[in-house]
Amino acid sequence: MSMSAPEIATDQWKRIAAQKAAEDVVDGMVVGLGSGTTAAHLVEALGQRVRQGLRIIGVPTSEQTAAHARQLGIPISDLGEHPSIDLTIDGADEVETRTLDLIKGHGGALLREKIVAAASRAMSIVVDETKIVERLGSHFAVPVEVVPFGWQTTAARLRELKGEPQLRLDADGRPFVSDGGHSILDLSFRAPIRSAAELDLALNSVVGVVEHGLFLGFASKVFIGGPNGVKLLTRS
Ligand code: 5RP
Repeated sequence: MSMSAPEIATDQWKRIAAQKAAEDVVDGMVVGLGSGTTAAHLVEALGQRVRQGLRIIGVPTSEQTAAHARQLGIPISDLGEHPSIDLTIDGADEVETRTLDLIKGHGGALLREKIVAAASRAMSIVVDETKIVERLGSHFAVPVEVVPFGWQTTAARLRELKGEPQLRLDADGRPFVSDGGHSILDLSFRAPIRSAAELDLALNSVVGVVEHGLFLGFASKVFIGGPNGVKLLTRS
């Protein structure tokens, strides 16, 4: 499918952010490989360096990323073999400037992404500048991964949190199924989220919720691609 001119520009911003972040990867590292279109540029950049002799082990966050990494000759492993990851580089749907907190999961890989992030000593995020927000929830719903059994009841619990859950469908109009075999409810609020920390706790206590797309306190660096190059935000 061909891209429109704005999509080509955004894709270029994603690419330069990913290429810059890839420079932090050095010989011997175990690297968490994120998922999505921006993370795909990261995998490309690392694949190129592996062909030039870089020695790393990648731990992919989705089946799609695993296939991509394999195709490019990046050695991959899993958390069983490598429970501690030196650096994970992943994309995001929204980045809150003040905190570097994130919404992730619009690609549907949030569960494995969060497990890998939690096992990582550092996490870099690669985004184009359209993903930067003052407050989380400004543009995107919060993806909530749920057990398919009884999802309607889980959705009713989520409505009690003053959000509107919508069952995610795939391109064929069937319920989306994650790599873990779960469904996703996209939980939208009419306004930016007042307290992401409170929502994080509330979502974690809903029976039937496996994980959700609020990534609070994970990102240590954010590489932001835009028309003037790459800007770096770091968490102090
Ligand atoms: C997948 C994710 C992605 O990192 C996020 O959706 C950003 O994707 P893209 O780089 O394609 O915009 O969290 O679960």
